Amino acid sequence: MRRGTPQPKEERLARIAVIPGDGIGNEVTEVAMHVTEVAAAAFDIDLELEWFDYGADTYLKTGVGLPDGALESLRDDFDAIYLGALGDPRIPDMAHGKEILLGLRFGLDLFVNHRPVKLLDESLCPLKNRTVEDLDFVVFRENTEGAYVGVGGIFKQGTADEVALQEDINTRKGVERIIRYAFEYARSHGRKSVVMSDKSNVLRYGHDLWQRVFEEVRQEYEDIESWHLLVDALTMQIIKNPAQFDVIVTCNMFGDIVTDLCAQLQGGLGVASSANVNPHTGAALFEPVHGSAPKYAGQGVANPMAAILAAQLMFEFLEHDDAGAAIEDAVRRSIVDGQVTRDLGGSLKTDEVGIAVAERLAGC
Ligand code: NAD
Ligand code: IPM
Ligand code: MN
Repeated sequence: MRRGTPQPKEERLARIAVIPGDGIGNEVTEVAMHVTEVAAAAFDIDLELEWFDYGADTYLKTGVGLPDGALESLRDDFDAIYLGALGDPRIPDMAHGKEILLGLRFGLDLFVNHRPVKLLDESLCPLKNRTVEDLDFVVFRENTEGAYVGVGGIFKQGTADEVALQEDINTRKGVERIIRYAFEYARSHGRKSVVMSDKSNVLRYGHDLWQRVFEEVRQEYEDIESWHLLVDALTMQIIKNPAQFDVIVTCNMFGDIVTDLCAQLQGGLGVASSANVNPHTGAALFEPVHGSAPKYAGQGVANPMAAILAAQLMFEFLEHDDAGAAIEDAVRRSIVDGQVTRDLGGSLKTDEVGIAVAERLAGC
């Protein structure tokens, strides 16, 4: 995962668009951006943050999620986008969230949803006798197609004969580019295997395409072991023996579901991060896997580590692997030292975890 167009060294100011969003998104983003600034200072990285108030409050006031021109500006004027979380009980259909988050994923064609599954400390894993070596893989979720395209309709709404259609779109181009990306990633990151997961025994058209494309692409990567698992079997195998996985590639919907399961194996949604990337254009958006957790909003109890680890992915994308590794290490050491929020068994508040991580980072 790298940005597409490398800049000359002297122009290396990285401009980040920050969208805290709703609920705990605000609290964890504030902390993650503090840690980001500490990391930038420690590694002498020129970084500029610009904050945007896209989210439920603005939507309720103006009726607009993503204003005209925002997509183009986020694409052209920034090196990366950082998003906290969206979701608000006052907007039950998530209209604003779809407009903003799916608007950016689709509008910027961020077809790779990169979700690392990495156990930072054994104590966080709910599975018996699992070590950190046992849980270290990456899920690549197709991010621009499938059931997320919003194609469908409702016929005879509100009657006994109501019909609801929700189309699942799979294109040759879309399926091939994510499967190919998974193999390329495996090859360039020393990963031994790629598992493709679908439901081709039932979804005889859409996932038949996944099967055929996978068979074709894997022939080009004989150095990488590869096999197929139906998604129900995949979830079972992830629990039974997570150590067998290096890289998993799957469709949009299954990737969403599987990565919440995987998040829990790492310690919960409070520690799971993600990147949405178009490796060809260099457009990228970083976010925790979790949502706005409305019931915890405004209480200062949300775990900011997922958001901080999303900043780690952002530094790696910006080609500052040293800063990324230092962030991960600072988070790991905070966990080992018990400097954690209550979801991980501690008693610290959101901002106090930020301070703990920043202290460990500043000393690196
Ligand atoms: P959620 O991820 O917001 O929260 C589910 C549960 O996970 C919480 O109740 C909490 O127990 C735990 N949790 C999540 N993040 C945590 C954190 N940082 N620290 C500690 N515990 C944490 O999922 P949900 O409740 O299903 O959805 C709430 C809203 O968020 C909905 O509107 C949903 O659509 C939206 N959502 C947005 C995103 C996103 O913006 N990327 C992702 C998922 C859900
Ligand atoms: C995620 C979220 C989103 C998704 C929602 C909020 C649209 O659950 O990023 O995992 O389903 O992709
Ligand atoms: Mn999700």
